[in-house]
Amino acid sequence: MDSSISKFFEKSQKDRLDIVKNFANLSDEEIKILEKSGGITFDNADKMVENAIGTFSLPLGIATNFKINDKDYLVPMVIEEPSVIAAASKAAKIARIKGGFKVDADESYSIGQIQVLNADSSAISKISESSKEILEIANSKSNTLSKIGKGAKEVSCREIQTDSGKMLIVELLIDVGDAMGANVTNSMCEAVAPLIEKLSGGKTLLRILSNYSTRRMVKATAVFDKDEVGGEEIVNNIILAYQFAANDVYRAVTHNKGVMNGAISVANATGQDNRAIEAAANAYAARSGKYSSLTEWSKDSEGNLVGKLELPLSVGIVGGIINVHPTAKICTKILGVSSAKELACVITATGLAQNFSALRALATEGIQKGHMKLHARNLASAAGAKAEQIDEIVKKMVQENNISLNRAKELLDQI
Ligand code: MEV
Repeated sequence: MDSSISKFFEKSQKDRLDIVKNFANLSDEEIKILEKSGGITFDNADKMVENAIGTFSLPLGIATNFKINDKDYLVPMVIEEPSVIAAASKAAKIARIKGGFKVDADESYSIGQIQVLNADSSAISKISESSKEILEIANSKSNTLSKIGKGAKEVSCREIQTDSGKMLIVELLIDVGDAMGANVTNSMCEAVAPLIEKLSGGKTLLRILSNYSTRRMVKATAVFDKDEVGGEEIVNNIILAYQFAANDVYRAVTHNKGVMNGAISVANATGQDNRAIEAAANAYAARSGKYSSLTEWSKDSEGNLVGKLELPLSVGIVGGIINVHPTAKICTKILGVSSAKELACVITATGLAQNFSALRALATEGIQKGHMKLHARNLASAAGAKAEQIDEIVKKMVQENNISLNRAKELLDQI
């Protein structure tokens, strides 16, 4: 299957859905769910959260052109911001000229933490001597993982100094397979706590996963053809733009926000815990002690632009919201990913793509031109223009450099 679909943006909703249907082998039932706004019913919502009063929809779009590890993807993205999906598609189009994105993901190891207060001095050695027993108790919490050779694999200890004195932190390393793994990690931490107390002579307090998922690292790279980027000067300017982010926290946060525009849109579409992803990414951006760019940009020997993005990323394709949210399930099917690792690769590639497009726009004409054109469409529609009237109103507002709701209304009256 080829994801480089020309003029996807010019097609009707029906034509776009037909393309996605064929690409991902969706059923008529699944198409009907996509056509309906939202995807979840009030009953679904009421089971997911407390005090539900309704549901809240966001646009779901498709980024085209993605080739990741030699496989083509149509990438579903849920985001309220204009330009992001177009920008991802454009970046992927340029990246595929030089082979697309190459992405490597670690196995899905989650980290569970048990905080121990007032531990004996022999606690660490007793805990490591009993690690087999600790792992057995942890693994009794998930037959599913144990059966497939996954589950808790390692116990480790470290001490931290706090204002209240020394604390012992016991960590479980758990292979959670294709799940995000928060629930199983928390259950395992709670299950082993009584034994940890016995062995350490201390008192356990927190028993919870760490969202800083540094044992689930994903590394994406892509080469962007120098000429397609716009020539040597633009390549150089993108590198200068990156160096700004690498050395200035105010710029780095905005730069990384652009990465998150891509990564979180795919995470949203596939029902991931976006807060966990962002919290981990931000901690990783500050790993040197100084918050910096998540991506790196340089040139290869031929002057092409080379981008890299490394993220700690915990995502899942089984369990969690995917069981209750039909649209998240369908989006995962559209991606055609068969493992959490593969989904992590797509999310990271999309983050890199997004950063490329943002830097390219910023280092050339700026982002407002494209942004305002899309904004003008929204205003024309908000002014009450029908589909066939929108283009004319947008064209006029852009020409006049007067993009506002009032002008859209005036132009609509004149039609
Ligand atoms: C806007 O949502 C994202 C950007 O600000 C990212 C960036 O500045 O790199 C365009």
